Formats: sequence, structure tokens, C-alpha cells
Amino acid sequence: MTDKNGLFDDLPEQLSPVTISQSGLGPVWTQHKAQLIAKYIYLFTIITRHGCYIDGFAGPKKQDLKDSWAAQLVVETDPRRLREVFLCDLKQDKADRLRELVKQQTDSDTRHYEVCQGDFNSEIDKILGSGLIKEKTATFCLLDQYTLECHWATLQKLASYKPAGARKIELFYFLATGWLHRSLTGYTVNLNRPDLWWGNSDWKNLVSSSGQTIAVRMAERFRDELGYRYVKAYPIYERDKGEGRVMFHMIHASDHPEAQNLMARAHRNVTKVPEPEKQLVMELSKIAP
Ligand SMILES: C[S@@+](CC[C@H](N)C(=O)[O-])C[C@H]1O[C@@H](n2cnc3c(N)ncnc32)[C@H](O)[C@@H]1O
Repeated sequence: MTDKNGLFDDLPEQLSPVTISQSGLGPVWTQHKAQLIAKYIYLFTIITRHGCYIDGFAGPKKQDLKDSWAAQLVVETDPRRLREVFLCDLKQDKADRLRELVKQQTDSDTRHYEVCQGDFNSEIDKILGSGLIKEKTATFCLLDQYTLECHWATLQKLASYKPAGARKIELFYFLATGWLHRSLTGYTVNLNRPDLWWGNSDWKNLVSSSGQTIAVRMAERFRDELGYRYVKAYPIYERDKGEGRVMFHMIHASDHPEAQNLMARAHRNVTKVPEPEKQLVMELSKIAP
């Protein structure tokens, strides 16, 4: 900022405030979570015409439940616009499932697939260090942890990877608000785990807050500490039509001004009839990548 007297010359540039509200999207329920993410990435890559997908906790949770495995839905979405796919899981059997999924794909000559077996909090260094994610690569990272597995430091690495001015790696982060209290109050001996998850010992203040308050607090941290411009915490319900209790929140963080509109559109698509690609291309081609 500059002014006549030069009094405010060294103030940081003020970005317009972003909201943390949960309005603007109908209810999302657990069984649709994976489809919502896949549909969002599909819509986004219609604009960008390319993309990189990182799935940090990628093994299937419900092996036999159709359309519930995010990695599979994302990888198999047509048209196949993603150019790089990194799938990580700690467990050997889950990593084997990921390798099988990759083996079934017929486009490994045009798309880079990598399965990483290990703790995502360290595997992320190899993924970001691979040099495959460039400044302009539209990159989406799914962090579908059980409860406290994803370290705050990992979020910091993802958020700070791109140079200043470039759009940051988008995050879809699962916050286990439905069972978080139970997990946190259980940590009387090994405090290291929640400390790593939250990034410090302030998580102790969360224990008396509601799940909704914790979701908003976390979303605020994505905005204020990680620097994302558009952050939203979506409650994910146990059952169809927004009934049942909130199982967890999905925090979506992006720097793209269209991100929340695309998420709303993905939601409409998942809960209703999909839109034809021709119509989408016409509308989305007006949006800058
Ligand atoms: C909630 S499940 C993921 C569900 C999956 N996204 C889906 O759509 O079905 C969490 C996964 O994270 C894996 N996991 C747990 N701790 C991990 C860690 N530190 N690093 C990588 N993967 C981990 C588990 O083995 C499990 O497969």
C-alpha cells in the first residue's frame, strides 16, 4: 500500500477476506465423499486440461463397497486429464491394492503413476522432491486420514511448495470431528501424536469445543497460517439426505476463485444427473486456468 506521506509503505498487501461458512452446498453424506472429490477434480481438469493428484492415505477403506474408493474413482475418471498420480499408504496390503489399481490402467505411457508405501509424512518429501510438480501444475492432494495421522508439518510442506504468487496445491482434508474428542481425551500418555497432528500442544483447548467449532477453527488455520484464499469446511453426514449425525468435516482449501463454485457443481452432479461434457466445456472454457 502507498499513501501520500509514505506512512503505510511497508504494510503487507491485504488480500480480500475469505469466508469459512458452510453455506452454499447441500448435505454431503459419507457414501458420496469419494464421488464428490472425483467429480470436483474432473470439473477442475476440464478448465486446466491437466493436473496432478496426490493421495496421501490412499488405500481403500471399504474394499467391496462400489464407488467408495476415492483413488479408484479419480484415476479412472474420463477424460484422463491428470498427468501425474501419486498414491501412498502405510500398509503393505493397501499398497498392494494400489499397485493392482495402477496395473489395471492402460495409460501408464502417457500418465506418470507412483505408488509409495510408507508414512505419508515422510513420503511427501520424495513426492515434492521429484520435480514433477511444476509451478503451473494444478495439483490436488487428498488427505483422507483416520484421525490424527496427517501432521501439521505435512500441510505446511504442501502449502508452501509452490513459489509465492503461484496457486498452492489444493487440499481436501478430513477432520474426524465425530470421534476426535474421544481420540484426544484418550491421549494422556503419548501426547506426541496429537502434538504432531495439530502442530503444537494447543489441541488441548479443543477438547471442550463442539465438532463444528473445531472444524471452523481448523479452517481458519488453513486460511491464516497456511495462507489459502478460499477455505470451506463441509460437514459430512452419516446417512442420506443430511440425516444422522455429522461423521466428519471435509476441509477444502484452494487459491482458485472458482473452487467453491466447482465444488457446488460437483455436489449437484453427484446427487443428480451428470452434465454432458460439451455443455461444461462451453461454460468452463470462459474461466481462466
Ligand atoms: C480412511 S483410510 C483411506 C480411505 C480411502 N481414501 C478411500 O477412499 O477408501 C486411511 C488409510 O490411511 C492409511 N494410513 C494410516 N496411517 C498412514 C500414514 N501415516 N501414512 C500413509 N498412510 C497411512 C491406512 O492404512 C488406510 O488405508
